[in-house]
Amino acid sequence: MYARLIGTGSYLPGKPVSNGDLAARGIDTNDEWIVTRTGIRSRYLAEPGTTSSELGLIAAQRALEMAGVAAADIDLIIVATSTPDFIFPSTACLIQGKLGNKGGTAFDVQAVCAGFAYALGIAEKFIRSGSHKRALVIGAEVFSRILDWNDRGTCVLFGDGAGAVVLEASEKPGILASAMHADGSYAGILNVPGQVCSGQVTGDPFLRMDGQAVFKFAVRVLAEIAEEVCACAGMQTADVDWLIPHQANIRIIEATGKKLGIDREKVIVTVDRHGNTSAASVPLALDAAVRDGRIRPGQKVLLEGIGGGFAWGAALLEF
Ligand code: UT7
Repeated sequence: MYARLIGTGSYLPGKPVSNGDLAARGIDTNDEWIVTRTGIRSRYLAEPGTTSSELGLIAAQRALEMAGVAAADIDLIIVATSTPDFIFPSTACLIQGKLGNKGGTAFDVQAVCAGFAYALGIAEKFIRSGSHKRALVIGAEVFSRILDWNDRGTCVLFGDGAGAVVLEASEKPGILASAMHADGSYAGILNVPGQVCSGQVTGDPFLRMDGQAVFKFAVRVLAEIAEEVCACAGMQTADVDWLIPHQANIRIIEATGKKLGIDREKVIVTVDRHGNTSAASVPLALDAAVRDGRIRPGQKVLLEGIGGGFAWGAALLEF
């Protein structure tokens, strides 16, 4: 029994905000620096009050529509997010309620930018075990809420958005292999080191990052985990039809593709349009490539994510 992907959906809130728009808002930056260092040209920023569950709901509805599955027929909802609506209930339960789905399993996964890869791997295990039949896996983020707009080294990199997929138990191939790893000794290089305590914010509630340390770590482990899932499925990385890496930085994406011997034209890139949307980045890129017809039935697609923790994950899918 496989977990087969039968629908994708995504959503970006509002209008694109260009690099020039950020400079015009008073951030000490410019289009040339951002494009050269990151490949990002624009991002989407949710209106104040718009939440991850609202973005995730729209992406989920679009994925359900493509799959031709009613919300009532979903028995597992996993939401990957680091920017949940509340401390609790989970964003997955909020989306479940908004979809009118009752009684299934619903929970959030916190693995930051690796969240979608983790959630997909977890959903695959539920489905392969036979305990669940149809899963909605969602990555939804409003990262703009945790950005320090006075820190130009981070605030220009991130954006808001959501992506979702529907998985179904099937005898036809679907997810061929998945893997998830973490190394908590790197917690200090990318984090939001704050919390709510006795009604007050304690510590620092903004995203902090050692960009160069993240860069080096990401390229190494994204290549390693891609080799691992391909080996699990008895394939070489060069045999993959499409690579969809975490959409954080074009230089990380290109370095990873090069290390794996995957041609540039087989790598899906959407980071230029929406920046780093954390757990939403991989399903946003996947949905774009499914809807524009690049990903076709029978093809092999390798997805991979990496983020704070450090945590990283990957899945190899047959469409
Ligand atoms: O999900 C994982 C998320 N994280 C990532 O993917 C981040 C990985 N790291 C990176 O992508 C890169 O390290 C960055 C894009 C964050 C930074 O690029 P860099 O080549 O490592 O630049 P840097 O931090 O060494 O900064 C170089 C210069 C500095 O100026 P000085 O000290 O050389 O005068 C910065 O102050 O660039 C300056 N700078 C900027 N200039 C214009 C930093 N941010 C900006 C900015 N606009 N937004």
